[in-house]
Amino acid sequence: MPEKTDSVREHYGDLVQNYTDAYDTGKLRNVPIYPAAHFRLQNFLKTLQGEPNQRVLDGGCGEGSPLLAVANQGHEVRGFDFTDEMVESAKRRFTKNGLDPEWIIQASIEEYDTFASLTEDGLFDTAICFGVLPHVNSELTCLQNLHKALRKGGKVHVSFRNELFNMFTFNRFTYDYIMDTLFADAPSEITETAAEFLEDRVERNIPPLRISTERGKPGYDAIKAKMHNPLDMPGLFEQAGFRFNRIFWYHFHPIFPMLEGKKIDKSQFREAAFELEKNPFDSRGAFLCSAFVVEATAE
Ligand SMILES: C[S@@+](CC[C@H](N)C(=O)[O-])C[C@H]1O[C@@H](n2cnc3c(N)ncnc32)[C@H](O)[C@@H]1O
Repeated sequence: MPEKTDSVREHYGDLVQNYTDAYDTGKLRNVPIYPAAHFRLQNFLKTLQGEPNQRVLDGGCGEGSPLLAVANQGHEVRGFDFTDEMVESAKRRFTKNGLDPEWIIQASIEEYDTFASLTEDGLFDTAICFGVLPHVNSELTCLQNLHKALRKGGKVHVSFRNELFNMFTFNRFTYDYIMDTLFADAPSEITETAAEFLEDRVERNIPPLRISTERGKPGYDAIKAKMHNPLDMPGLFEQAGFRFNRIFWYHFHPIFPMLEGKKIDKSQFREAAFELEKNPFDSRGAFLCSAFVVEATAE
């Protein structure tokens, strides 16, 4: 397996407990890492209300809490992940909750044949894919693979890191986005002048690079973790055979992230963010949110 893929697996192998904590609704105000995954899941669960007996596939299911929540609403569930520790934890969670651990398998979303067996009992009505596409080589291949697993008219919910959020953070990410993407093809006089202009205007040393996890595994900034422009989504999903429906914004920032816990108290920041999470269709999310979910229908 390529080195970058190995580092993604090593990274996530170290984060099983972080995800379990993020889904513990009793800890939302206290977990050290903002519980964005909780809001992403709640937005999805709401879409299932009024749609009984769905057959739901989770591509990159992690430690299984999202799928368990889906199963608890009476739906049939199957999932896969390519990280050993995540698969083991999800299987344990299923067994503990009276679900068949065989419904979780080890597979990669980049290779359809590795998870095709999950369609043996029938194609899926819905597929979710949360936190996975930043790490893959070809987003298009992955979406096409999910499309193969869905019935016609079935839906996908796929999350991405929001590239436009960079224009709100005024930090290292802003600098890199403007210089490497917006001005990627600009003549050197433009890039040199822009670099000089930005030097005094953005905090280039913030946030600190996350090179390794607490336990010495590759950190988020040491692995492939692409951002995506939400404006590119209709085209990408249509290319993969979907009709683009809508975007759910999540992981709201009520103020510039570098001020959290500094000028604005951490709990005040979180409370204001939670208030904004109540409306995932607030178009300010295009800039205030570091992530979004695309909902699309298989044609
Ligand atoms: C951000 S975590 C999210 C886990 C889960 N989807 C959730 O919402 O809690 C991303 C997961 O994607 C998995 N993953 C990354 N690349 C993958 C791939 N190519 N195939 C399958 N799983 C993958 C990782 O192992 C990790 O468990």
